[in-house]
Amino acid sequence: MIQTTLDPKIVIALDFSNSQDALKFVEQIDPALCRLKVGKELFTAAGPHLVEGLIAKGFGVFLDLKFHDIPTTVAKACEAASRLGVWMLNVHASGGSAMMEAAREGVERSGAKPILIAVTVLTSMNQQMLNEIGVTGTLSDQVLSLATLTQKSGLDGVVCSAQEAPILRKAFGEKFCLVTPGIRPADAALDDQSRVVTPSQALALGSSYLVIGRPITKSKNPLETLKKINEEILIA
Ligand code: C5P
Repeated sequence: MIQTTLDPKIVIALDFSNSQDALKFVEQIDPALCRLKVGKELFTAAGPHLVEGLIAKGFGVFLDLKFHDIPTTVAKACEAASRLGVWMLNVHASGGSAMMEAAREGVERSGAKPILIAVTVLTSMNQQMLNEIGVTGTLSDQVLSLATLTQKSGLDGVVCSAQEAPILRKAFGEKFCLVTPGIRPADAALDDQSRVVTPSQALALGSSYLVIGRPITKSKNPLETLKKINEEILIA
C-alpha cells in the first residue's frame, strides 16, 4: 500500500535535460508522495507546457527559476509563474526589498496562492567569493541578514542548507518555510554534495521541505526509494 501524507515533504529535483526524460521518470512516481522541482535547465528546454502537464497530473511544482531583475520584471515573472498554478516559486533575496515586495504583489495579482521564497546566499558560494562581490561580513551574517529582509518583504521563507535551518527557525518562527537541498538517505551516494544530512535529520533541524534529486531520480526503483524515504520521515 502506498503511504501518503497530505503535505508531502519531499520535493524531487527534476534535473533532466528534456521533457521526454522528465516525463518518463514522472510516470514512475506518485503525486501523493512528493512534489517536483523544475529548475532552469528543464524549464528552458521544455517550457511552461511541461509545468502545466505536471500540475495536470496532480503534482505540486516548485518552479526554481530564482528570479533576480528590476522589480517590475520580477513582479510580472512571478505573476506569470503563479498563473501556471505552481505550488512554490522563488527569487534572489539579493535583489532587495523593493524587488521582493514587487514579487509578492505579482503573486497576489495572479489570484493564486503559491509559496514564495527567496534564495539568500547560494550554497556554492564561500566566504572568499562573497568578499569578491563586495560583501564584507561573514557568510552566516549575510544569510541571516538576507533572510531577515526576505521576511520583512512579506515572503514565506528561504532556501537554505540544513545546517543553517536551526538558527533560521529560531529567528523567524514556526511558520517561516525552510526548503533544504543537500539531503542524502543514509545508504545513498553523495554525488557532488559534500555536507549532507539524512531526511529525518533535516526535519529535526527545522526544514519544512526537502529537495532530493539523484538518490530518487537515479534509483533503479524510484517509487520504492520514495516510499522508503517517506517511511523514514514518518517514523522519525
Ligand atoms: O541530486 P541532488 O539531491 O544533489 O539535487 C539537489 C538539487 O537541489 C539540485 O537541483 C540542485 O541544483 C539543488 N540545490 C542544491 N544546493 C543548493 C541549492 C539548490 O543542491 N544550495
